[in-house]
Amino acid sequence: MRIVQISDTHLSHLGGVTSENFSILVDFVNTELRPDLVVNSGDVALLSPDSAEDREAARRLHERFDAPVRVLPGNHDLGEPGDHPWMGLAVTSERLRGFTDAFGPGRFLELDTEGWAIVGMNSEILSSGLDEEREQWEWLEGAAAASRDRSVMLFLHKPLWSPIPGYTEHALAIEESDRERLLAVFSDSRLRVVGSGHLHCFRSAFEGDVVTVWAPSSAFVVRSKDFSFGLSQLGVVEYRIEGDEVEVYFRSIPTLCEQEPFAMAEFVQTMAEIEAATASR
Ligand SMILES: [Fe+2]
Ligand SMILES: [Fe+2]
Repeated sequence: MRIVQISDTHLSHLGGVTSENFSILVDFVNTELRPDLVVNSGDVALLSPDSAEDREAARRLHERFDAPVRVLPGNHDLGEPGDHPWMGLAVTSERLRGFTDAFGPGRFLELDTEGWAIVGMNSEILSSGLDEEREQWEWLEGAAAASRDRSVMLFLHKPLWSPIPGYTEHALAIEESDRERLLAVFSDSRLRVVGSGHLHCFRSAFEGDVVTVWAPSSAFVVRSKDFSFGLSQLGVVEYRIEGDEVEVYFRSIPTLCEQEPFAMAEFVQTMAEIEAATASR
């Protein structure tokens, strides 16, 4: 089985570089990689969880994949939990409904014939206290029961382990308590791979026995003076599963265009809209 993980596509109904990159990516995935499944690990929409237009544009673009697609939400699709969400955009039931109406439940379970369970989940409701969080934990218990004694590949937007433990300015990973609970839920299975997005770079490394994969963005790389980690290139991740073995590859797509976010007109316009909405609250 082959799975392609795409991430942080940051698509806008205004078009622009991120949409152009996405079209190139779809052609590359359909013709070169030909996977059995495509997973988008979130930040599907450009920036605003309140843009139904961006969601609709993104939904239509995803229809161009030949393979089945599963879309997971990121912080820019739902808002975030915690006391200091980006731009004050907190995850809410209403924002979650907007996402699920466009892309489905934001979680999935696929059991293959080679003993693998492919699990996708929503990282942005963890520690939110919403009813939907409790409901997802119940669903995860069921998914773990169905995955008992299988190798598990888990996809979600935010990493389980922070690249900079103790860094608190932005949420770089899920809360430690949620990670411990997740690991406990899957303790009767073999959690082999965790594929996340959010960091806009590629890395494949071990955390104990678990291969942790950071999927790159297809939209833009994040260059911060505060931190630098992983391979800062645009691309996708390919997973090749053969029996009990899994191989992980970074796939570069040379014709993708890398541009500074603030050099994109649609990015600047959307930021201004979010700032105006924040100021009027
Ligand atoms: Fe992102
Ligand atoms: Fe993100």
